[in-house]
Amino acid sequence: MMRLSGKRIGFALTGSFCTIPEVLPQIERMVQEGADVYPILSYNAATCNTRYGKAADLIRRLEQITGKEPICTIPDAEPIGPKALLDVLVIAPCTGNTLAKLALAITDGPVTMAAKAHLRNGRPIVIGISTNDALGNNAENLGTLLATKNIFFVPFRQDDAIKKPNSLISDMTLIIDAVVAALDQKQLEPLLVDKKTG
Ligand SMILES: Cc1cc2nc3c(=O)[nH]c(=O)nc-3n(C[C@H](O)[C@H](O)[C@H](O)COP(=O)(O)O)c2cc1C
Repeated sequence: MMRLSGKRIGFALTGSFCTIPEVLPQIERMVQEGADVYPILSYNAATCNTRYGKAADLIRRLEQITGKEPICTIPDAEPIGPKALLDVLVIAPCTGNTLAKLALAITDGPVTMAAKAHLRNGRPIVIGISTNDALGNNAENLGTLLATKNIFFVPFRQDDAIKKPNSLISDMTLIIDAVVAALDQKQLEPLLVDKKTG
């Protein structure tokens, strides 16, 4: 099914490093479904080498999958607004840090700049969260964004209610379904999922 044929999709990744390997196959699926995908990286996603992988390998992999050099600076993200470059912007994985900034309209990096530029055009953003404080320090910001126009979520669940009771993670296998719904100005439901569907 080519549900994304001709769609221009910004795909922003932030520093939830353990979750990045889960979203890469979804970007591949988007390309297979006919989308033109523009990768965007937060400063941390573009530069941190962690036990989950090296920054240079992530950049190379994104170039291989999308055929485009990732957007890694504020000046490179800015034209998304005036040029109306994207139909939809995905931010996945979205850290607690980036979630909080989005809720407070802080625009201090490539991903938050992309979000601001894109929202100016009244177009949808789809957030796939992955953060240990979503039901704690970040609950207020999550609530703000749930009630914000043009912001949609990849359905999420608690990933370890006993050991990390404040942690939420989106089911990244639902990114494409969430994007298709958001392009129609709809939130994919149910928003709360029990367990991994993929
Ligand atoms: C190995 C590693 C894993 C991390 N995983 C997460 C995570 O899953 N969720 C999260 O919100 N932050 C996580 N962080 C912390 C973020 O990387 C940190 O808050 C950073 O400032 C995020 O910046 P960004 O949102 O601009 O990418 C992790 C950090 C490291 C080093």
